[in-house]
Amino acid sequence: MRASRRVAKNVTARLAVVRAVVTRRLAIAAACLATVTACRASPTPAREAPERPLPRIVESGGRHALLVDDAPYLMLGAQVNNSSAWSSTLRRVWPAVEAIHANTVEIPVYWEQVQPEPEKFDFSLVDTLLAQGREHHVHLVLLWFATWKNGSGHYMPEWMKVSPQRFPRAIDVHGRPIDSPSPYARETLDADARAFAALMGHLKATDRERTVLMVQVENEAGTWGSVRDYSPAAQSVFEGAVPRELLAALHPDGPMPSGSWRDVFGDDADETFHAWSVARYVGAVAAAGKAVYPIPLYANAALRDPLNPGRPGHYESGGPTDNVIAVWKAAAPALDLVAPDIYMSDSPRYLKVLDLYDRPDNALFVPETGHAPAYARYLFAALDHGAIGFSPFGVDYTGYSNAPLGAPKIDEETLSPFALNYRLVGPMDRAIARLAFEGKLRAVVEEKDKPRQAIELDGWTATAAYGLGSFGPGDHPAGNPEPVGRALIAELARDQFLVAGFFCRVDFAPRDPDKKREFLRVEEGDYDGAEFHPARIWNGDQTDWGLNFASAPQVLRVSLGTY
Ligand code: DGJ
Repeated sequence: MRASRRVAKNVTARLAVVRAVVTRRLAIAAACLATVTACRASPTPAREAPERPLPRIVESGGRHALLVDDAPYLMLGAQVNNSSAWSSTLRRVWPAVEAIHANTVEIPVYWEQVQPEPEKFDFSLVDTLLAQGREHHVHLVLLWFATWKNGSGHYMPEWMKVSPQRFPRAIDVHGRPIDSPSPYARETLDADARAFAALMGHLKATDRERTVLMVQVENEAGTWGSVRDYSPAAQSVFEGAVPRELLAALHPDGPMPSGSWRDVFGDDADETFHAWSVARYVGAVAAAGKAVYPIPLYANAALRDPLNPGRPGHYESGGPTDNVIAVWKAAAPALDLVAPDIYMSDSPRYLKVLDLYDRPDNALFVPETGHAPAYARYLFAALDHGAIGFSPFGVDYTGYSNAPLGAPKIDEETLSPFALNYRLVGPMDRAIARLAFEGKLRAVVEEKDKPRQAIELDGWTATAAYGLGSFGPGDHPAGNPEPVGRALIAELARDQFLVAGFFCRVDFAPRDPDKKREFLRVEEGDYDGAEFHPARIWNGDQTDWGLNFASAPQVLRVSLGTY
């Protein structure tokens, strides 16, 4: 899968970067470990904190990493409910974050709270988030709920809502205002860009520790209820020619069409125009913030069905849906990535979405996914794609759950499949992020009616089988009653692999059919972020039938031979 997808990538460039990463890692390893420990152990007042490197996203050979303290970092996220980022509710957030073992919390910043009056900015709540995030030893991703939140303008400050002439809504094809701001509302854009720049300036001044890793610009920007804005301002742009910069980006190898939106995009003209319009707007807000404080910025997407998309109306129009990612890239270069909010629990759709958003020009990040148990295993699928982070939505104990989209209630039991993942991966997050960036990590998730999966590795074929006991031959796996199995395998050295998983049996066979596999040594151990420390050797029942993983977080270092 991933290996074959990447086969055409430039190996020399990759090796050079891997070498550079390794050299830099050695150079910074001590400092990095020291700073990571410091961050986790002792919250320091922002004024006294030493200034750390800015987080940033890097690309090599089509793979990506989020660098934190100059080394690849994996966001094991938890996103809180929409109305949970208040001083009064935070005490109900942290117990859930702790229960799930997240290392990063995604949390909103509300425009209506930050700018209660046109000339007044109030960042006291942001200060609270930073302070409490540090106290709880987590990083933050801030979500800028501003012009758009799920396609609407509900987070605009009240002084804007009462002036629709200055801050207009989009207009539908019948000339009626709809519940979505116009991307051609000049004063709204100016106000949003100014407020966002002020937020980023505040972070620059108060977050020398880099508690905040990334900022999401708007939330599911776009429009429900109309394919595009038909206001006079939008209409006059629509009747003009398609901008050359968009055409050039869509046709890098030429020839380049020209003409009106209808001429160039036919039936897709309205949707493509709206994507361009919304992305230009979000890109302008992002650029204003990035000019002040250049940490990674992204926009999230309300998805369309990746297998049977239908037409806009079935899905939100104008956001970074899979069909217009290239439009967003051209229109909003200040965004580092566009990210899918995945609420489709069936594996064909989920895996297809990961495929669509993992692109050489787009780091994969899953900023929201369902919190029902069926979603937990997809962390592993995201890791197989080299994701920089993954986050279930609605993780707090405020009493709200977005059922039926999510589970009937949020409690420790609901969160436990995610907690299991994070208890396993959390202690080795740095190692996993590095291995993924180096192209050495593979992972699989169980799919309905596929009780066995093969993973092609250097010299070996690994198999993950589901629904077997922990003892006895494995020729006829039945699959688990629910598809909850997951496994990850990373190449540590020639014939040596890190193996971990849940509810599965993993085994290896040499590629050479005349040879058989022998376990030279199977060590179970612990990670402390980057290094493996063996604690015991598995043998006898623990290896005679393959490597069996149930519900305990266990990490193995497996050395293989043949006979
Ligand atoms: C996706 C949005 O981005 C979230 O803020 C939230 O509204 C969920 N949908 C639904 O709970």
